[in-house]
Amino acid sequence: MIYLDNAATSFPKPEPVYQALDRFARTSLANPGRAGHRMAIAAERTLDDARHKLNQLFEGEAPERWILTLNCTDGLNLAIKGLVRPGDHVITTDLEHNSVSRPLRALEKAGVIRLTRIASVEGYVRAGDIAAAITDGTSLVVMTHASNVLGTVQPIEEVATAVRKAGALFLVDAAQSAGVVPISLRELPIDLIAFPGHKALYGPTGTGALYVGPRTDGKLRPWREGGTGGDSSSEVQPTLLPYLFEGGTPNVLGVAGLAAGIAWVVDQGPARLRAHEVELLQEVVDWVDRNEDWQVAGRWDPARHVGALSLRVPAGITPQDIGTILDTSFDIAVRPGLHCAPYIHRALGTAPDGTLRLSPGPFTTRAEIDLFIGALAEISANSF
Ligand SMILES: Cc1ncc(COP(=O)(O)O)c(C=O)c1O
Repeated sequence: MIYLDNAATSFPKPEPVYQALDRFARTSLANPGRAGHRMAIAAERTLDDARHKLNQLFEGEAPERWILTLNCTDGLNLAIKGLVRPGDHVITTDLEHNSVSRPLRALEKAGVIRLTRIASVEGYVRAGDIAAAITDGTSLVVMTHASNVLGTVQPIEEVATAVRKAGALFLVDAAQSAGVVPISLRELPIDLIAFPGHKALYGPTGTGALYVGPRTDGKLRPWREGGTGGDSSSEVQPTLLPYLFEGGTPNVLGVAGLAAGIAWVVDQGPARLRAHEVELLQEVVDWVDRNEDWQVAGRWDPARHVGALSLRVPAGITPQDIGTILDTSFDIAVRPGLHCAPYIHRALGTAPDGTLRLSPGPFTTRAEIDLFIGALAEISANSF
């Protein structure tokens, strides 16, 4: 099988991830607890280890500022719903995944916030458009680092500077960039960043993280309260990080795999991983350029791209049909449709059918991309 759906979740995982999952499940799969028995302490150490690795890779202020979540959606909801107050103005973009758009739209519909959605141009948001939309009442700007539909990398450095200058908080959805685009929280004035562990950090599903920077202290409220494996006498959630936001038994097995995935990414180097995927996509772009029935959605700029690419398909056939043919006749897994990001598809004119998205990973080969291109050519030739 040729797996080109790494933007949804990465597959296969690097070998050390499978080994870590197996080892942990056999030796340390206890409920983490600071005051417990040796196995519980070993499980707790695994969580600490993952926080340290995250803090090193993204150069955060302290490991305890990394909240381990169930996925990216979990972290984004915690951040958005924990921060906004009635009457706040929030800015976002038309590139967002539903994990950002839906909580914000629900808050807007309930009359809690005023929402401004900035339009992208050919897949890129202009930092100046966001800066110009900031008002005295703007409390939060939420945007994706890279579009999960188009793969286009957004100018978060410039946006971060403008948001900080205005005194608002900046939340970045790094679902498509964490692990492939270097991000330094020491250098960039980003207040919160959320990502899944199961995409380009190569953990299993059910893992993710949210970084809560110092400017959120005292402002971000927990939305899930419960046991923290430590001081049980307190009647309310402890204020200590990360426990303030981590009630309940965490996915410690998944985190053991995630820690191994992060170590693998550090070893390979995010820039190198991105370069490999973009090189493979360049082949597809070159083929599309030679075939007028097909088009790349958004502007292709290899210097500002991650490993996801959306194709507008020829008239007379839908992305869903092509996805099904690729799956059933060629054993190739891609993602057709709207990719949980309806606003950008509407803006591109690709709604309601969407596009055909392919997303290679670190183990995808040139030969597999050639087979994918051959399959597209065959499907086009047989459809018309
Ligand atoms: C840009 C973006 N944000 C958020 C998410 C949601 O991630 P998860 O499924 O881990 O909640 C995705 C998933 O595809 C994504 O691509």
